[in-house]
Amino acid sequence: MDLGNGLGATQNMLDAEIQSFFDSAPPLRSSGDVSEKLEEFVKRNSIASGNGGARRIVCVTSGGTTVPLEKRCVRYIDNFSSGHRGAASTEYFVKAGYAVIFLYRKGTYQPFCRSLPDDPLLECFEFTDESTVQVRHSHSEAVRRAITEHRAAVEEGLLLKLSFTTIFEYLQMLQMISLSLRSVGPHAMFYLAAAVSDFYVPWKSMAEHKIQSSSGPLDMQLNQVPKMLLVLRKDWTPMAFCVSFKLETDKHILLEKADAALKKYKMHMVIANELSIRKEEVVAVTSNERISVHRNKSLGVDDVEDPLIKLLVERHSSYIKSFDP
Ligand code: PMT
Repeated sequence: MDLGNGLGATQNMLDAEIQSFFDSAPPLRSSGDVSEKLEEFVKRNSIASGNGGARRIVCVTSGGTTVPLEKRCVRYIDNFSSGHRGAASTEYFVKAGYAVIFLYRKGTYQPFCRSLPDDPLLECFEFTDESTVQVRHSHSEAVRRAITEHRAAVEEGLLLKLSFTTIFEYLQMLQMISLSLRSVGPHAMFYLAAAVSDFYVPWKSMAEHKIQSSSGPLDMQLNQVPKMLLVLRKDWTPMAFCVSFKLETDKHILLEKADAALKKYKMHMVIANELSIRKEEVVAVTSNERISVHRNKSLGVDDVEDPLIKLLVERHSSYIKSFDP
């Protein structure tokens, strides 16, 4: 990519960092299977939807990436993300008629199961006699809804779930998804809610075996993970509508940082959220607006993702229209 002058040099450095990240990453074990599923999913949903237009496809990323410290991994660096935002948002996107590629961290919240207890198998079911298991009455409504809504989304071909654990898997899969969504043009959206590691140990310099505590204090150099947002936006899927997130714990710097991310990575929108109130309120930041979005249980708005996804669907519609001749 040639942007001219200093910008071009910075871009070339970033491209080199990204190349080196991918070159040194361990190959994705399931890459054949992932690309087959992606190809089939995008092809099916690119064919006209019920109302005659091409279906919109959104890639929702969810949960946190891990950074392994050893190749035969015993220890890793992790982060707090539960995947609730991504799972809830996926449900609202499906309700709005989108096909969703849900790229999620293994073991985090799943769409349509958020109201089930932590250990659903043990808490939702009971034996009526030695060989018959039934759903406990107290959970029957939640289980019925989870099964029905999930099955409908999968059977209608509207939900493709792909899982990751490490930062290497996440970024390789994000690149595969981006490239496969190119063909959908402006009907594609990225909703990047995953909490992505900022630092990592390059595979080449990673210890093979468990690091021994008998060797004394651990002195380890972590490299910076190159931000892939700009390259996703400009090279991988240039016509997609791109929404990223900005998380801070200090509310005084949050909106400033969101504005900076909007400009730096050329996002169409950045969702700013403060850690402690992330389930109550977010601010959607665009080049000329700051829109506060709230959950309000008393008004029947159970999740902040409900009005947030409505806003995004509306903005995505205007974006698609702007490509009309
Ligand atoms: O999962 P929950 O518990 O429900 O919490 C939801 C959430 C708080 C994790 C979510 O709402 C959120 O804010 N996700 C983004 C968190 C984050 O990593 O923010 P950041 O400021 O570090 O990164 C900003 C953006 O850059 C993100 O869209 C991220 O996907 C992207 N990024 C980050 C680091 C990196 N090396 N490469 C990236 O592309």
